[in-house]
Amino acid sequence: QILILDFGSQYTQLIARRVRELNVYCEIHPYNKIPDLTGEVKGVILSGSPCSVRQDDAPDVDLSSFRGKVPVLGVCYGAQLMAHKSGGNVLPSEIREYGRAKLSRVDQHNELMKEIGIGSQVWMSHGDTISELGEKFEVIASTHSVNVAAYRIEGEQTYGIQFHPEVTHSEHGKTLLRNFVVHICGCHQDWTPDIFVETTIEQLKEQIGNDQVVMGLSGGVDSSVAATLIHHAIGPRLHCIFVDNGLLRKNEFEEVLNSYKGMGLNITGVDARDRFYDALKGLTDPEEKRKAIGRTFIEVFDDEAHKIEDVAWLGQGTIYPDVIESVSVKGPSATIKSHHNVGGLPDFMKLKVVEPLNTLFKDEVRLVGKTLGIDDAILGRHPFPGPGLGIRILGDITPEKVQILQEVDHVFISRLKQHGLYDDVWQAGAMLLPIQSVGVMGDERTYERVVSLRAVTSVDGMTADWCHLPYEFLADVSNEIINSVKGVNRVVYDISSKPPATIEWE
Ligand code: XMP
Repeated sequence: QILILDFGSQYTQLIARRVRELNVYCEIHPYNKIPDLTGEVKGVILSGSPCSVRQDDAPDVDLSSFRGKVPVLGVCYGAQLMAHKSGGNVLPSEIREYGRAKLSRVDQHNELMKEIGIGSQVWMSHGDTISELGEKFEVIASTHSVNVAAYRIEGEQTYGIQFHPEVTHSEHGKTLLRNFVVHICGCHQDWTPDIFVETTIEQLKEQIGNDQVVMGLSGGVDSSVAATLIHHAIGPRLHCIFVDNGLLRKNEFEEVLNSYKGMGLNITGVDARDRFYDALKGLTDPEEKRKAIGRTFIEVFDDEAHKIEDVAWLGQGTIYPDVIESVSVKGPSATIKSHHNVGGLPDFMKLKVVEPLNTLFKDEVRLVGKTLGIDDAILGRHPFPGPGLGIRILGDITPEKVQILQEVDHVFISRLKQHGLYDDVWQAGAMLLPIQSVGVMGDERTYERVVSLRAVTSVDGMTADWCHLPYEFLADVSNEIINSVKGVNRVVYDISSKPPATIEWE
């Protein structure tokens, strides 16, 4: 595998994704917590960083633990750090270099730069520049404004590049990474979804042995794929629990439960709608509603888990970005969910945790799901928040409001599917607003509810843009909602981006 040492760059995860697109396994670790992977690591990549090597507290690493032993590639800060520590000089750039540049000189005999020609576009993003190189360093690529765009160190397989090969604006970035990972490090390109499935099932068998596992499913991609993998390893000793919290989409409980049963999972559906509605009664504050929903879920799940004898493990659909976030250079910060801090830990949280997807990115989870034969309807689902419609009904929640919103949401989502727009949207849903408006239907004056439709494009939910859905489509959906959903007489469309708005309204 390839070890990526993270110095805090916003692009570190992207480096990992590009390496994995070459079907080579890699892991990201913080620069100050290097794991002992002797024998397993075939190469090391040092990431970029928002810091400067000239800072007193600049992130630093003991290069001797890997330099000279395995090939090393420093990207941006990583390149500057190696130059700085080996007799070179790093200075602030006269102009801050950000954006596209073209290589004006390339040593194509060098293995790293093979098949990357003069004129090739690269993406720069740095405030410092390497002004002088130490002994044995040799420049292997330049742009018009940056002499040391890439270097190598004589007698070693150590390289540095000032530009970012991981962003798509670097035209031959993938070629460069392939040159490093495959040709220089000698990694085999055999890390495929098939192999992942095969080896993970074997590992799970070994890890779990003859124990029983309990797992909560949500209908979402991650938990479904994780459960399927565990199921392949231990069959009915995986006990899945799917809770109807009364805040799911229309018919979702029955449909998802049936598709899980169809997949052969040992699943129990729990109708806990009333428990949730009771817990939510009168609550209007979004955080209080979230906490009530989280707390009730834990109670329901704990009750169900106690019905299974001798459970030793809790299965979870944790994916790699959550893991990286929790050990990141920037600190574990806000990753601990608020409901984990309320009261003592429930019994099921004292179980050992099994997380078969904790090395995968979201798109890799989908590929694994496809390999496992999971239905596209589950793999292609939009994300849906844990508290469900509970944070889409502004103000207090009643079963009647849930039912109205389920109908509205159902019209919107089915129409998106019918018009072939569902897959162009990252997430869509409807919000029930806590106001009424005047309307006219036939000859009658109405005074009814207002709903807002929300559809966004995004990569990871951290930032999002509102979807420019066709007017005709919106007109069609609005018409159908007002005509078919009793109690709603006005539909608005949310045209706010995140930031400054959020995707959910609460
Ligand atoms: P926001 O509203 O913060 O949402 O822009 C970003 C993404 O997170 C989802 N979301 C939640 N998911 N529990 C969850 O499991 C929550 O409390 C929660 N709040 C927001 C939201 O649906 C979107 O995908």
